[in-house]
Amino acid sequence: MTYRIAPSILSADFARLGEEVKNVIAAGADWIHFDVMDNHYVPNLTFGPMICSALKPHAKTAAGVAVPIDVHLMISPVDALAAQFADAGADLISFHPDASGHVHRSIQAIKSKGVKAGLTFNPAEPLDVLDWVIDDIDLVLIMSVNPGFGGQSFIDSALRKIEDVRKRIDASGKDIRLEVDGGIKTDNIRRVADAGADTFVAGSAIFGKPDYKSVVDAMRQALAA
Ligand code: DX5
Ligand code: ZN
Repeated sequence: MTYRIAPSILSADFARLGEEVKNVIAAGADWIHFDVMDNHYVPNLTFGPMICSALKPHAKTAAGVAVPIDVHLMISPVDALAAQFADAGADLISFHPDASGHVHRSIQAIKSKGVKAGLTFNPAEPLDVLDWVIDDIDLVLIMSVNPGFGGQSFIDSALRKIEDVRKRIDASGKDIRLEVDGGIKTDNIRRVADAGADTFVAGSAIFGKPDYKSVVDAMRQALAA
């Protein structure tokens, strides 16, 4: 299993975002998780496509290897801004099915831009829609907190949902990433992996500590154990 760690820059210092992206990549980030909030679908407001394109040149390793920008849209409606994020350099774009009137169309709109598409499920959101679009997506993002804020506690029922998604992905035979978002720390990441996740968003756990690399290393160590 290839595990990926996706630091959420929601908890970074917004006054120094480019530097924060560089530093967290130097610390070993596999993806940069980019939380887009619209003060409508969620009660908070963050950043848009202009910030994404400003950060794009910073999203690479010291050796020049591009690090994917993983855009998590907490917005409604979805399609117009998704297209703008594709143009702004997003490598993956996920959205909440309950935020789109036409889920299949939103997926196609993202994929037609050559960007990987993901579906995101809130803690109380059922997975039914997956039955109809699993062949069309590249990523499932399970929320283990309610979307809108960093620094919340992991909701344990997410573990059962991750197990359920893992079964569906395996049954599909497709190469689909299973990412988990919210409340992930060095002391619970192993449990989340055991439930079937392969990609881990972590905001406050990483940016809340002075030494990002020691947190990323400790997460990898827990995953390897
Ligand atoms: C919440 C966001 C998360 C958030 C996670 O709406 O989707 O990505 O940054 O933050 P932590 O890791 O602090 O729970
Ligand atoms: Zn997120």
